[in-house]
Amino acid sequence: MAKIPRRRFLKQGGVASVAFAAGPLLSRAARAQGMAATATRLVIDPSRRVSTLDRHILGSFLEQLGRAIYTGIYEPGSKLADSNGFRTDVMQEIRTLGVPIIRWPGGNFVSGYNWLDGVGPKQDRPRVLDRAWDTLETNQFGTSEFVTWCRQVGTEPLFGLNFGTGSVESALALVEYCNVDKGTKWSDLRRQHGYEAPHNVKYWCLGNEMDGPWQIGHMTAVDYGRKATDAARQMKVLDPAVKLIACGSSGPFMPTYLEWDRQVLEECYNVVDGISLHRYFGNAGETGGDSSRYLAMNLAMERQIEEIVDVCDMVRGLKRSDKQLWLSFDEWNVWYRARGPAASDGHRQEAPHLLEEVYNLEDALLVGGLINSLLRHSDRVRVACLAQLVNVIAPLMTNESGVLRQTIYYPYAWALESARGSVLSLVPEGPSYEVARAGRPIEAGGLPMPALGRVPYLDVTATFDPEGKTATLFVLNRDLEKPRELLVDWQGLTPSKVTNSEVISGSDLKATNTFDAPKRVVPQPLEPLRAGSHMTFELPARSYTRVTVAV
Ligand code: AHR
Repeated sequence: MAKIPRRRFLKQGGVASVAFAAGPLLSRAARAQGMAATATRLVIDPSRRVSTLDRHILGSFLEQLGRAIYTGIYEPGSKLADSNGFRTDVMQEIRTLGVPIIRWPGGNFVSGYNWLDGVGPKQDRPRVLDRAWDTLETNQFGTSEFVTWCRQVGTEPLFGLNFGTGSVESALALVEYCNVDKGTKWSDLRRQHGYEAPHNVKYWCLGNEMDGPWQIGHMTAVDYGRKATDAARQMKVLDPAVKLIACGSSGPFMPTYLEWDRQVLEECYNVVDGISLHRYFGNAGETGGDSSRYLAMNLAMERQIEEIVDVCDMVRGLKRSDKQLWLSFDEWNVWYRARGPAASDGHRQEAPHLLEEVYNLEDALLVGGLINSLLRHSDRVRVACLAQLVNVIAPLMTNESGVLRQTIYYPYAWALESARGSVLSLVPEGPSYEVARAGRPIEAGGLPMPALGRVPYLDVTATFDPEGKTATLFVLNRDLEKPRELLVDWQGLTPSKVTNSEVISGSDLKATNTFDAPKRVVPQPLEPLRAGSHMTFELPARSYTRVTVAV
């Protein structure tokens, strides 16, 4: 990948009226590169907030699938493993990332999972056939190993419950096993297994994608809603502190999209706290392989969020409820290559290579855009999980000797590091392009996707951290040909220093990182000029940028 010149891309403007006259402010270098004459203008006022950020929106997901757990985070016998069998190099990466919450054990896997197979002495645990992915599950890594691992990497567990083959009774037994201190059948079993203190798992998903015909134990919305209600009521008796997430539609491609959510919520609204959303994007069916359309797909995610919010609030009205539900976008990512039969030839094997998506530059740019969208909706989206974290559709890949950071690692790492405090409400004004109609979703038989209309070239999100006294901008430039200019007028605060400015970009949108060439797509530092109350950012074509200023 061509290296981005370390050119100055931030410079101080004059007074506001001059700063907003885009033409004269263009640098000679920018003009030489053919930068569009029209800039995007933005006023940043830290008192205008979308939310105080709940960091759980930057969570991730590990499914008992492929090599996510086995040879991903758990590999006893490896020279890189600790005495628990946990890969120390992977733990270090995840600890450094600071992932706040991780969903486990599935995914489709959970709907056939018997949690009792994964507790107690390891030598007694059965080797079973996982029917969701048709692979062999040794159960050497189960509930308590996951909780122990979470504590070691400094993350919070988000448990999925089996609503497929699993009964309400077995779900409650797991909650009791995890969260009741002692003196009951299941809490005492945990103690007998060597874990005196309760695991205190707070967040629980009531099933996974139960609207999908592919799901083990797939059921109707009303049946699911009643089962969720029954389980939720009893779970809150066992532990009133639990936060419960009802299973929403698997995505807009479902013929039952929104209708499923309405019916489910009409049953269980009063006893749950949130509802789940899932979405995977690809630069194929949905976009026809058109990258400028692909880089607009985060706006389709926003539309999905807004539609589910509308359903929640309609049911709230029907119920005359004071409670407002939040959203758990607990599976989102790019995933379209390692799908279907070609991605599944690991049948009846342990830890086969499944869903090992290789990410390129344009995927990283879209993941940046998706993070922007989640942040912009952080008033209602309180939990979200990049699906997934290691080896399976993941930013981190392992081999016997180390860890590779895929391209999508970087925008995710930036958000984890810099998105703090409040998410700010922004109204950028600038040039846009038409995305007439996004094609058909990846999944066969899906409904046509809605048109996105005019899509801004620059997609901007900002956070403001009053404690750290910093503000950070995250900017996606969707223009595939030209750099674009962003004029920022700060109100109520003045940046005193640019503490960090980095960009991911390059000439080859299809460039990837591999174990042999791990640095083809990595952030490039860009040297700013000076901070000030009027700033001009020059964003390279095909780029995602993070700029942090001290205020
Ligand atoms: O994340 C991979 C799979 O995608 C999950 O198991 C399932 O919930 C979704 O369809």
